[in-house]
Amino acid sequence: MARLAAALLLVLCLAAPGAEALGMNWGTQASHPLPPKAVVQVLRDNGIKKVKLFETDPAAMSALAGSGVEVMLAIPNNMLADLAADAGKAKDWVKRNVKRYDFDGGVTIKYVAVGNEPFLESYNGSFIRLTFPALQNIQNALNDAGVGDRIKATVPLNADVYNSPTNNSVPSAGRFRADISTLMTDIVKFLAKNNAPFTVNIYPFLSLYLNDNFPLDYAFFDGGATPVNDNGILYTNVFDANFDTLVAALKAVGNGDMPVIVGEVGWPTDGDKHAKSSYAQRFYAGLLKRLAANTGTPARPNTYMEVYLFGLVDEDLKSVAPGNFERHWGILRYDGQPKYPMDLAGQGRNTMLVPAKGIEYLPRTWCALNPNARDLSKLGANIDYACTFADCTPLGYGSTCNGMDTAGNASYAFNAYYQTQNQKDAACDFQGLALPTETDPSTATCNFTIQIQTGAAAVHGRSSGAAVAVALVALLLQLLALW
Ligand SMILES: *[C@@H]1O[C@H](CO)[C@@H](O)[C@H](O)[C@H]1NC(C)=O
Ligand SMILES: *[C@@H]1O[C@H](CO)[C@@H](O)[C@H](O)[C@H]1NC(C)=O
Ligand SMILES: *[C@@H]1O[C@H](CO)[C@@H](O)[C@H](O)[C@H]1NC(C)=O
Ligand SMILES: *[C@@H]1O[C@H](CO)[C@@H](O)[C@H](O)[C@H]1NC(C)=O
Repeated sequence: MARLAAALLLVLCLAAPGAEALGMNWGTQASHPLPPKAVVQVLRDNGIKKVKLFETDPAAMSALAGSGVEVMLAIPNNMLADLAADAGKAKDWVKRNVKRYDFDGGVTIKYVAVGNEPFLESYNGSFIRLTFPALQNIQNALNDAGVGDRIKATVPLNADVYNSPTNNSVPSAGRFRADISTLMTDIVKFLAKNNAPFTVNIYPFLSLYLNDNFPLDYAFFDGGATPVNDNGILYTNVFDANFDTLVAALKAVGNGDMPVIVGEVGWPTDGDKHAKSSYAQRFYAGLLKRLAANTGTPARPNTYMEVYLFGLVDEDLKSVAPGNFERHWGILRYDGQPKYPMDLAGQGRNTMLVPAKGIEYLPRTWCALNPNARDLSKLGANIDYACTFADCTPLGYGSTCNGMDTAGNASYAFNAYYQTQNQKDAACDFQGLALPTETDPSTATCNFTIQIQTGAAAVHGRSSGAAVAVALVALLLQLLALW
């Protein structure tokens, strides 16, 4: 027995570094976000010790205070213009968002993310001139505040800031994108001067999503793909290849040793034919095993990688401009329940994550197509209305609720809206086409969900005018996020 206990202890100790190393992205673009305290608890219950935010929400910060979880705060893109133009505003931001929480028993802030993927080509260059000055002003403000030695500013960048030439598409030929190469060089030099890391988001799922000819196995870590031969080094997965393309780009500007943080990596579970739980499970199993073993990549072998998974929970208000999968990145469902087996310690055990605790649901009531409705001429318009304000992405091609008949589609849309509106009576009418029901309309693959109760639910007005206003604000926030 003692030997078994010792062996178990050894296993636990071996498991620890991987778990310790792991970070998680905590996004909150949801109609019913999990309570911040429940989020911090679920992080701790699952041994996650680092978290990356997308803003500096006071409720999240107070839940994180005293938790010991290390935090990467964030400055959204729409604040870059102000912070770039005015060093005083950057100082003020640092005072209100960093200094305020930076005390014993406060929040353990490690990084400030300046912007989020600001150089994405889809932003048409809107943030090209703003990001570097904002980064400088924030890091200088951190330095002036006396915390710059332990709190570093960095910019989470999309992997499209670097590439290899098409006639030599191997990682070692990686360079920063031609249109921003001077800017990227300046940013890298500034990060290096301040001992700050480079942060990049790497998405093998997107390689697959964006290219019909992309070899499926190359997105995973099982070694099944035909390797890419880079002067004798064999790459068997796109994650390594992508990371090493960045290492080559850094080397080309004289900073080949710069620390690199993977700010986001993950796999969605709905909204596309490749976005499914079985693939997500396979992807994470491979990734987590390598992270726990500190495998590194061919360019940086046997090294620890600081990685933040994307993301913790599904977010039903995320913009779907990049694709319907955007609302399904969570390793937990919207209600904090795990979706598939996952061993964060990377030991390959067939375990489920610890779910969020203390989550309360609305009553077990759904909204469905009224079986007695005769005039269906306005059905399409009502479905469109519901789906404008609620998440209908599971209905799309390749998704969990695709292939239902018209009645199933309508019921799904009506229920999604009804739940988003906290099951208000007026939210299940749709010109007489809908009726509440206590019979679960879910099918084997398609989940007609019941929303959770949130603090906000209690505060929201009951009149439909207020509900529409809330929905419009949500829509506006989405548009702003997209912008
Ligand atoms: C970028 O430009 C394209 C084409 O001109 C346009 O459709 C799109 O809305 C623009 N996006 C942003 C974020 O300005
Ligand atoms: C790729 O194309 C560039 C520009 O035409 C050329 O300078 C370079 O030598 C080519 N590289 C290879 C490996 O063919
Ligand atoms: C159900 O909705 C999906 C997504 O909008 C659509 O592609 C499909 O054609 C609809 N099916 C029917 C029978 O209306
Ligand atoms: C549907 O949701 C319930 C909780 O609301 C969950 O327990 C169940 O596993 C889900 N089913 C599927 C098929 O996702």
